[in-house]
Amino acid sequence: MMLNEVFSGTLVVVGMGYIGLPTATVLATRGVKVIGVDVNPRIVEAISRGETPFIEPDLAVAVSGAVAMGRLSMSQDVPEADAYIIAVPTPFLDDHTADLSYIQSAAEQIAPHLKPGAIVVLESTSPPGTTEKVSRWIGALRPDLKMPHVAGSIADISVAHCPERVLPGRIMIEMITNNRVVGGLTSQCAARAASIYRVFSQGEILLTDAASAEMAKLVENSYRDVNIAFANELSLISESLGLDVWEVIKLANQHPRVNVLSPGPGVGGHCIPVDPWFIVAAAPELARLIRTAREVNDHKPHHVADQVIAKARRFVSPSIACLGLTFKANVDDVRESAAVEVVGLIASALPEFEIMVADPYVDELPPKLTSNANLRLANAGEAADAADIIVLLVEHEAFRPLRHLRQNGKVVYDTRGAWA
Ligand SMILES: NC(=O)c1ccc[n+]([C@@H]2O[C@H](COP(=O)([O-])OP(=O)(O)OC[C@H]3O[C@@H](n4cnc5c(N)ncnc54)[C@H](O)[C@@H]3O)[C@@H](O)[C@H]2O)c1
Repeated sequence: MMLNEVFSGTLVVVGMGYIGLPTATVLATRGVKVIGVDVNPRIVEAISRGETPFIEPDLAVAVSGAVAMGRLSMSQDVPEADAYIIAVPTPFLDDHTADLSYIQSAAEQIAPHLKPGAIVVLESTSPPGTTEKVSRWIGALRPDLKMPHVAGSIADISVAHCPERVLPGRIMIEMITNNRVVGGLTSQCAARAASIYRVFSQGEILLTDAASAEMAKLVENSYRDVNIAFANELSLISESLGLDVWEVIKLANQHPRVNVLSPGPGVGGHCIPVDPWFIVAAAPELARLIRTAREVNDHKPHHVADQVIAKARRFVSPSIACLGLTFKANVDDVRESAAVEVVGLIASALPEFEIMVADPYVDELPPKLTSNANLRLANAGEAADAADIIVLLVEHEAFRPLRHLRQNGKVVYDTRGAWA
């Protein structure tokens, strides 16, 4: 293959969610013929109509344009193509090990359509060794193909891992500008997979082996988790000492080599609270700090809920407004959201009181909260006006004008330090 080759051909993205759809769209808008595949027929239908099933700045216009130009189409079945990107979920099981069934299913859907020379890239965040498993799963169904875990440099198929590190809310910018790590099962696999990212990436493309790429992604999110756990632990300690943790952190951060992160109601999203467990599962005896950080962050929603419940018990008939449900500010994603967990804990502990919940990005209660009959979705301003206790769980821009309520004699529990 040529050095610095740029992919041209037909490419299939399996899993058209928060990562797959932007990736497919960015490739399609740069001239690649892309077919998106998803098991969810509603996603297939919506994208086929040029619609974007979730909110992400600058994505909707790019999707409708790519579909209108015939560069991006959708299918529920995997077709034949020159390259495949797998972007399906990797949640964890009850024992905190990775659930690889989505990846295995995607690999097995791809296998019958592979022809020699094809590239398969795993983008899903995965424990070390998963990319090799993809090669094995395909090889088991296609004994006619030389797969790289056996054939090495003479393989028919290139299999690689290219983890994604975009920030929701900035996906369309960061997908282009971030540096990319591309880890191949062989150096040839890495080089061929890199040709796909050269189509659109302005960042550096760093070639490595597959397991190092898998581990690097997990390290990035564990680094974030450990640092957030430090801040969350400081918030508990400061609270017990009667100190304002944000003032303490602001002062400590004046040190030229200190940068403590901000505490919050817990850690949400489906990356940071999930990925560190894959390292713990890979080295349970050794990953002591990473495990403890997870436990500290998982405990924080319980602490926040306990504080709110204690405050509520001081009222005869408290009116409570919880502001924010998403896992972070200014996005519509409620997956693994600490705010959802806090609201659920409060609602379950105080079933006799109605609790108002407001989030400009959420128009129906997430499934985890639908069994709490005392929860009511409300407008943020009205809920905050009516409430005795306001719990700020997410620092959405839309909540900024409400910060004056702090002075109105209400109990305000600002878990983000946004109204300090
Ligand atoms: N969302 C993020 O910000 C982010 C960032 C970095 C990495 N990741 C990783 O990327 C991967 C995908 O995450 P996401 O947020 O895009 O998930 P998502 O849930 O938004 O999308 C996944 C899609 O895959 C589809 N799917 C599942 N199994 C399938 C199959 N066998 N065939 C076809 N489609 C299938 C689902 O219907 C869904 O639409 C995960 O491993 C995640 O950890 C996500």
